[in-house]
Amino acid sequence: MKTLRTAVIGLGFIGAVHVEQIRRIPYVEVVAVVDAFGAEERAKQMGVPAAFSDYKEMMDTVKPDCVHICTPNFMHREIALAAFERGINVVCEKPMAMNAEEAQEMADAAKKSGCIGALNFHNRYYPIPYRMRRMVENGDLGDVFAVQGGYLQDWLQYETDFSWKLLSAKCGKTRVTADLGSHWMDLAEYVSGQKITEVFAEFKTIYPIRINQTPDGIESVPIDTEDFSYVIVRFENGAIGNAQFSGVFSGKKNQTVLQVAGTKASMEWDNEKVNDLLIGHRSAPNELLTKDSGLVDESTATIINYPGGHAEGFSEAFKQNFTAIYNVIRGEKLTNPFATFDDGLHVMKLCDALYESSQTGNWVRVEE
Ligand SMILES: NC(=O)c1ccc[n+]([C@@H]2O[C@H](COP(=O)([O-])OP(=O)(O)OC[C@H]3O[C@@H](n4cnc5c(N)ncnc54)[C@H](O)[C@@H]3O)[C@@H](O)[C@H]2O)c1
Repeated sequence: MKTLRTAVIGLGFIGAVHVEQIRRIPYVEVVAVVDAFGAEERAKQMGVPAAFSDYKEMMDTVKPDCVHICTPNFMHREIALAAFERGINVVCEKPMAMNAEEAQEMADAAKKSGCIGALNFHNRYYPIPYRMRRMVENGDLGDVFAVQGGYLQDWLQYETDFSWKLLSAKCGKTRVTADLGSHWMDLAEYVSGQKITEVFAEFKTIYPIRINQTPDGIESVPIDTEDFSYVIVRFENGAIGNAQFSGVFSGKKNQTVLQVAGTKASMEWDNEKVNDLLIGHRSAPNELLTKDSGLVDESTATIINYPGGHAEGFSEAFKQNFTAIYNVIRGEKLTNPFATFDDGLHVMKLCDALYESSQTGNWVRVEE
């Protein structure tokens, strides 16, 4: 079996998760890491043989088969373009880019290069959402007419909470919509099998000024992105939906909820009960399906590695998503769609349209 050589660029929160989860795939080796700060030290801690501060130098020296882009959003475009120019496959963190124009350029470059451009919309690879998609495909819900939920956190609760993720120059013109909403919108489309075609949004910035504590003292920073995003959407089959996205919702550490209603049944997944699926019936007792390879279809069973009762969560979703992507990189047939750069581009178009709606107060149609 050919070993694929890969490198992770950006070693903050999520880059470290990528290094760990790539290593669970037997035929993929993390041969280098890159960070603008302290790369040598991090490489030693992680047991990675090579460290760089410059991603282009890494690409030209190491010549990896694939790179994982885990830097702040404003860096995604230039790193992806540099990789594709060199014939290197890319796994990119979400949101794909700062806006749809950048994402279009990246998707075009991926196609021109013939390389894989994959987005880490890892929610697709939890067993329960995977099963939900199969149930919609099987017609178990009847016609799907409503999709709702949201993604809430509380790490930005106080005005003293600060990050590059708050500033449009680094994160893009939408913040929580692109950061959390992108995950939910991709998941809603993946499970329902329907694209969102029209959007309406109400944004709220709770702290127009935040306090940033730096080594040189305290600074007041004007905030030009939204803390709260309420959205209403229309899907291509006529279904409607709504969702809320926020990092300022006390007590919600990292909660994604997806509820899907159809003419025969409904389904609800809450990632804080990651292995449970609630199936709602009108004329029969409701069901609680717990992740177990013996209780689901054959396809879903392929991404369940542990017996029932043994939780498979965040780390496993990354592992399963990366496994699917690397299987395609080494020429295997895809069995379940991971998110591609085309999907990432579509979600960036949704984010831009939601921004426009929040500014104009109008519904905005998303052109493909
Ligand atoms: N899939 C998910 O669930 C998930 C979760 C968290 C973050 N993310 C995404 O991952 C990306 C990174 O987020 P994070 O939370 O890890 O941020 P972070 O701030 O913790 O880490 C970013 C890292 O990139 C490094 N960096 C900055 N400029 C660089 C450059 N030019 N070259 C190399 N390294 C550079 C920084 O030094 C830092 O170590 C963002 O796009 C974010 O939206 C995805």
